[in-house]
Amino acid sequence: MSAERDCSHPAEPAKKIIVAIDGPSGAGKSTIARHLAQRFGLLNLETGAMYRAFALKALRAGLSLDVSSGLESLAARTTIRLEPGEEHNRVLLDGEDVTALLRNQTVTDAASRVSVFPAIRAWMVGLQQEMGAAGGVVMEGRDIGTVVFPHAEVKIFLDAAPEVRGLRRYEQLRAKPEVQPAEVIREMRARDERDRNRPDSPLRPALDAVRVDSTNMTLEEAVKAAEEIVAGKLRARAQC
Ligand code: DC
Repeated sequence: MSAERDCSHPAEPAKKIIVAIDGPSGAGKSTIARHLAQRFGLLNLETGAMYRAFALKALRAGLSLDVSSGLESLAARTTIRLEPGEEHNRVLLDGEDVTALLRNQTVTDAASRVSVFPAIRAWMVGLQQEMGAAGGVVMEGRDIGTVVFPHAEVKIFLDAAPEVRGLRRYEQLRAKPEVQPAEVIREMRARDERDRNRPDSPLRPALDAVRVDSTNMTLEEAVKAAEEIVAGKLRARAQC
């Protein structure tokens, strides 16, 4: 007698899997990573929050964001930890909870600037590799599938047209009356340019990444598509 195995809800939690999600800002990475973490019992690690926390420290120290040496010695005196949080990770910078200080435009722009330096990236990549070493994680950023975990079992490159990403970002910020959509789109484009064109680990899809373009999808549809990709990998793993 042969019984068919139901693989739609794998019995084994996805403990060891590493899911890498990369893409530009406003593509829906955070929302999707959060859902995947809940759905598959994974730890969600937002690497952008680490660059943001370090940028906050550099701003507080009054350092030039264009000089690597000053940033490098600051990095040598910095600890950054991510913990599970509500909407975003809780971020501990030298033990201080800075979660609420990381999403303003000044820090957003500074994070993109400090992240161009190879020494800063090497330090961050090392921390991220340690955090994900045991597996059971969904890690999102710009270089997860290409540099941090090039052997991740699932790699998703999430993209959307710049206008759509800019409008999504604007919707998130619209509680603030001083924010104008054109300005949000302009700043997002400038940041994307920098993230895509830096010489070290530019934002680009890994060759083996599954590309999801959410331009014409609702976020719910994009979440569903990403869930299917992970579920498909788990089914293949369970040899269903
Ligand atoms: O994902 P985010 O918007 O929080 O990222 C903030 C900045 O950090 C982004 O402009 C580029 C940089 N970053 C990076 O270079 N590599 C990563 N893995 C994550 C973020």
